Amino acid sequence: MNEITLNNGVKIPQVGFGTAAIGSWQQDDDYVKNVILNAIRAGYRHLDTASLYGNERSVGHAIKESGIARKEFFITSKIWDSEQGTEATIAAFENTLNRLAMDYLDLYLIHWPVPAKTQETWQAMESLYEQNRIRSLGLSNFRQTDIEQILGFAKVKPAYNQLELHPYMVQKELTEYCESQGIVVACWSPLGSGTWSGIPVDEKPVSDQTISDIASKYNVSNAQVILKWNVQQNRIVIPKAESLNNISNNLLLDDFELTAQDIAQINGLNRNRRFGADPDTAYAANMQMIVPA
Ligand SMILES: NC(=O)c1ccc[n+]([C@@H]2O[C@H](COP(=O)([O-])OP(=O)(O)OC[C@H]3O[C@@H](n4cnc5c(N)ncnc54)[C@H](OP(=O)(O)O)[C@@H]3O)[C@@H](O)[C@H]2O)c1
Repeated sequence: MNEITLNNGVKIPQVGFGTAAIGSWQQDDDYVKNVILNAIRAGYRHLDTASLYGNERSVGHAIKESGIARKEFFITSKIWDSEQGTEATIAAFENTLNRLAMDYLDLYLIHWPVPAKTQETWQAMESLYEQNRIRSLGLSNFRQTDIEQILGFAKVKPAYNQLELHPYMVQKELTEYCESQGIVVACWSPLGSGTWSGIPVDEKPVSDQTISDIASKYNVSNAQVILKWNVQQNRIVIPKAESLNNISNNLLLDDFELTAQDIAQINGLNRNRRFGADPDTAYAANMQMIVPA
């Protein structure tokens, strides 16, 4: 599987498996474990979770049951808004590791920017990084101003920023800014979101006619075209899937190549349409959301 080298030399598989809302929101049981185990058996080694998803235990159980060594995996988790701050960050990290039943993370992200807490949170994360308890540090939903803030004091530069990014939300300026700073861009809801968003599937980019036309040229699925559009532009994708067919389909990206014209055509589908929250307004609602124990 293709890997990208982060700014500290750590390698990350370009296609990861998204784990939010497998089954239903914050479900954490054998069903979730088995979906993740299916993904591992299909070949995924990069798993994306978060304290807020409430399913870190299922991620840990699936890895254990796979019989594959921990070091073969790339595990990302995220700190929630209400967990930010100096001591709170350390406590949130320990809780995450305990739930995962692991002794280190490959990547730890600030899930959403909380500018008043960013410096304390990042410096606590830096101390965990210096103790070799986290292999790389990153961001999620950070705008350019949030990144500029962090670059003003960071000893460890962020390696990664996870953004809502799909053909209807191309994030051109922010992506270019991240790349200019050596920050790898990862795409959340790369296919246009799961059922949690309530968006009908025919409104999502995975159902777009232009994408279907490109897919039929290469005899691949619409999802494969969207994922390849990101992969060819050196971005990371973390599609979530529960059906076995979709789980495997999303990994099969090596047998075709999009042309520059295909890529430009997909870029042209942008309509700045978010299916998830906007970092400009997310904070109040985020603070109402409970991180399960
Ligand atoms: N950082 C953040 O703030 C943030 C926010 C949201 C999400 N995320 C991360 O991003 C991950 C992915 O986002 P997401 O789950 O919202 O959306 P997504 O990956 O864009 O879409 C998931 C949906 O697409 C379907 N699907 C998967 N593969 C397909 C294929 N080959 N063909 C057709 N349909 C396919 C899935 O169906 P089935 O499940 O039925 O197979 C599911 O309904 C999350 O799991 C999470 O890890 C991060």
